[in-house]
Amino acid sequence: MVTDTPRNDSLLRALRREPVDRTPVWLMRQAGRYLPEYRATRARAGSFLTMAKTPELACEVTLQPLARFDLDAAILFSDILTVPDAMGLGLYFVDGEGPKFERPIRSAADVERLAVPDMDRELRYVMDAVRLIRRELAGRVPLIGFSGSPWTLACYMIEGGGSDNFSRIKAMMLDQPALLHRLLSIVTDAVIAYLSAQRAAGAQALQVFDTWGGVLAPHHYREFSLPYLTRIARDLLRGDGDDRTPLILFGKGNAPYLEELADSGADAIGVDWLVSLEEARRRTDGRVAVQGNLDPAVLYGSPAAICNEVRRTLASYAAGGDGTHTGLVFNLGHGLSPDMNPEHVQALVEAVHEGSRRSW
Ligand code: CP3
Repeated sequence: MVTDTPRNDSLLRALRREPVDRTPVWLMRQAGRYLPEYRATRARAGSFLTMAKTPELACEVTLQPLARFDLDAAILFSDILTVPDAMGLGLYFVDGEGPKFERPIRSAADVERLAVPDMDRELRYVMDAVRLIRRELAGRVPLIGFSGSPWTLACYMIEGGGSDNFSRIKAMMLDQPALLHRLLSIVTDAVIAYLSAQRAAGAQALQVFDTWGGVLAPHHYREFSLPYLTRIARDLLRGDGDDRTPLILFGKGNAPYLEELADSGADAIGVDWLVSLEEARRRTDGRVAVQGNLDPAVLYGSPAAICNEVRRTLASYAAGGDGTHTGLVFNLGHGLSPDMNPEHVQALVEAVHEGSRRSW
């Protein structure tokens, strides 16, 4: 395991709720189509999947936003759907329609055929990318590895792609709950193996994306998403040494469950903009770090408006605790979109650093 501390370790310190000189900031989808250099690499590669599956290209695009902005972390360039792809579902992308699977899960027989993929074979390209990125980062900032949550992966695996109403997975949840639990359990084993392998390859923090947890009614969330997130947090913790690799649980629409998520064993909870950071901090009561939560659409405003919203967000977090920003990782409440202006992203990153200096 590569455990050397990066020169800029503010992300790792914030995740441990230690004081920092300025609040760390990174952005979900910080490497993406809003950057002209990303579009150029993608054109050269021919497709998103070629880029994600070629370690040299994945490394190149991972580093692109860091060359432009003073970001405090890199996030592995990959996708959450690499895991079901490695489980044999056949991931492909249709322009304008998003991800799709050739062989979605529709029956008990399909579930029974699923197995945890071999991380050194089917997902070796991801681990090779992690190792290469760590080498190229040369200790500048930490590298974040990630996975989808079991529920969110199951949504794509059963729907066969994106969905407006989640009709297929919700039908399975209602009519064949034991079958869905069986699938979620296998996917959870795969997620734990995947995150452990990324950690062994050099990822210094890990994030789980529960993008679709918020489409569940509370009793369903507590049955079909939360227990699996908790199992991931507990199992990863058990497999970790003294030099613990922090785990961030990000969820869209997870505001109703902040207390429960804070008890999961994770180090940080990532929240969207439907909850204030003041409330998120108060309700998690210093037990975990908090990551978030600017509405990404704020980036459609002017740089002055963006600075204003960043300051409000920082002040909100401070008001939820002892007036400092300790334990805050600044991020958006969801990812950047292709039509966003890189200069506005620059304004955001600068505003976070300016607004949080010597704040502790
Ligand atoms: O954050 C980062 O910079 C790291 C890279 C990353 C990507 N996807 C790159 C990507 C991460 C962490 C993801 C996670 C991911 N992928 C999630 C969870 C996070 C979230 O946004 O809620 C989900 C649901 C997916 C599935 C997925 N992959 C979707 C819905 C899409 C968009 C399809 C489209 O055409 O808009 C993808 C493709 C994808 N993953 C792109 C990128 C940069 C765009 C691909 C392209 O270049 O065309």
